[in-house]
Amino acid sequence: MGQIKIFSPATVANLSCGFDVLGCCLDNVGDIMTIRENDVQEIRITKIIGQNLPMETGKNVAGVAAKSILSTLKSSQGFDIEIEKKIKAGSGIGSSAASAAGAVFAVNKLMGDPFTASQLIPFAMEGEKLASGNAHADNVAPALLGGFSLVKSYEPLEVISLPTPEELRVVVLHPLIEIKTRDSRSILRQSVSLEKAIKQWGNLGALISALYTRDYELFGRSLQDEIVEPVRSILIPYFDELKKIAAENGALGFGISGSGPSVYAMCRGDEVAEKVKSSIKEFYKSKAIDFELHLSEINPHGIKILS
Ligand code: HSE
Repeated sequence: MGQIKIFSPATVANLSCGFDVLGCCLDNVGDIMTIRENDVQEIRITKIIGQNLPMETGKNVAGVAAKSILSTLKSSQGFDIEIEKKIKAGSGIGSSAASAAGAVFAVNKLMGDPFTASQLIPFAMEGEKLASGNAHADNVAPALLGGFSLVKSYEPLEVISLPTPEELRVVVLHPLIEIKTRDSRSILRQSVSLEKAIKQWGNLGALISALYTRDYELFGRSLQDEIVEPVRSILIPYFDELKKIAAENGALGFGISGSGPSVYAMCRGDEVAEKVKSSIKEFYKSKAIDFELHLSEINPHGIKILS
């Protein structure tokens, strides 16, 4: 029976100016998944370590995503899925995306690679739909493709991989409160003023340009969000103070990671990133909120095969 063990990475979606269309892949934060063929023609979630998540296939994002790829392949092959969840649910760093993308990646491998990484995105999006009610691709695309991904359009789905400036580092603070993506989407306004839209697409265009030209300073100045951050940041304890601390310590830019509560600071080089990380730590440890802090490079490859 075929088996594969993978590392499925966390991701930072939106990156301030790219709500639902932009995301990047982290290198050292992620789940471990083991997927093996079974002979019972069923997808089964056989073990979940580290989180209390549904074991029922139809209610589990990995199960739903795996079912989606197999139904397109018209295959009755069964798989057992074990997930060691290191990314907490409701953290804002793509927990559901890691499970969904990992499941479709592994099933695709064990089925002999019938799909390319890009073609796997819609199957993984089925998991996101189950988790948040919305099939957004800005976490699953970078998890599958690595680096930075831009969702050019959803209908039809078109995702573009963008270059990764090598010196970029990401500091992620995860205050240990849970914010469900479904809830933090429900508070967003459904319409946007032309004035704000102009600022937003100006920043998004500039950010894409900065990635191609490796203009770190422009990249940082483009990490601005006129539309979502003002609404969602009220859910994140000490957001304004954290943003100020990141800027004072040399971060290129700072914002909400995905739907929060995690926040991210983009930095150039390890030295600045370490400084930003320690100053955020210093500030947050005096507050009555538990937290986790990560410092990661951008992962250019996405999901990794461990064995
Ligand atoms: N773009 C999605 C949102 C990402 O912000 O709701 C969720 O991680």
